[in-house]
Amino acid sequence: PFATPSTPPETNVTGKYAFAFDIDGVLIRGGWPLPEAIEAMKVLNGQNAYGVKIPYIFVTNGGGKTEQERCIQLSRQLEIEVSPGQFICGHTPMREMAEKYDTVLVVGGEGEKCRQVAEGYGFKDVVTPGDIIKDNEDTTPFRKLTEEEYKNSRARDFSKVHIQAIFVFADSRDWAGDQQIILDLLMSKDGVLGTRSETFDDGPPLFFSHNDVVWSASHDLTRLGMGALRLSLEAMFKAVTGKTLNTTAFGKPQIGTFQFATRLLQQWRKDTHGIDQPPDTVYFVGDTPESDVRGTNEFNKQASNTWYSILVRTGVYQEGTKPKFQPQATVDNVLEAVLHGIKREY
Ligand code: G3P
Ligand code: MG
Repeated sequence: PFATPSTPPETNVTGKYAFAFDIDGVLIRGGWPLPEAIEAMKVLNGQNAYGVKIPYIFVTNGGGKTEQERCIQLSRQLEIEVSPGQFICGHTPMREMAEKYDTVLVVGGEGEKCRQVAEGYGFKDVVTPGDIIKDNEDTTPFRKLTEEEYKNSRARDFSKVHIQAIFVFADSRDWAGDQQIILDLLMSKDGVLGTRSETFDDGPPLFFSHNDVVWSASHDLTRLGMGALRLSLEAMFKAVTGKTLNTTAFGKPQIGTFQFATRLLQQWRKDTHGIDQPPDTVYFVGDTPESDVRGTNEFNKQASNTWYSILVRTGVYQEGTKPKFQPQATVDNVLEAVLHGIKREY
């Protein structure tokens, strides 16, 4: 499935250190690799002064497709082979919620993709906003389903369905419609559409796969992200009900994400490189101080100083401002970040 896999020279592998990479704003912008990204991968795969191969994983807040699919795409973009065994995206930890909730609303992403991801995670009954609009088109006065959406959506009598939780898997493609439906559920009695709670505290819980207010896409300036949708929903809930809405976000900077990343890296190093002891240092390369630097620094305190944050200037963080969370190093781009880490090791 990989378009142009590179074959790194046979070299030795280091067990002493490893890298973890954020994706958007570090390796990719708007679907295209940053020029230094491909070079950086080559360096990790042994094309460096020491001829050493350095293990690495990817930890992105992004999502919207299966881990498998995203890895195939990333492999093409970076001209290397990326395996799901070295990849975590924003919604990966939501997998663990499939046991807890039977019927869930899944929001965001292209077409039916997030429904497929959720079903792949084991969620038994996945409802999308399209299903709800198909059942009652008055739900969203200014949003009509396309023919394709109408065909794929699964209408049913939602007055008999208890939606137990809401998961925003990926960025909403229709803020107005999605927010209307989420708000309807948050204000409902026990997640039944068409009902209104008297107290507004018995609606389903709301989960986001991450909390990035802005992110780095192809535009020169940052673009609104899922964290902005979260802020918007919290503000609207307050305005409409007078109550405070409590929501949960996964992804970076949550400590759980870094613990997950540690386990993944351990497994990856063991399975692919035969390394069975923990690394002394994990260099985390990110572009968003609030997610990447903050998470790495906070996790580092628990992880006996083994994580090291490197901030790049190719994404959300731009030269000339002071980052809200101070990294251990700031460099121009991902290639410099890799070289910085290597230099510290010898
Ligand atoms: O929507 C994705 C974005 O918010 C962040 O992705 O790779 O920078 O963690 P990443
Ligand atoms: Mg980023």
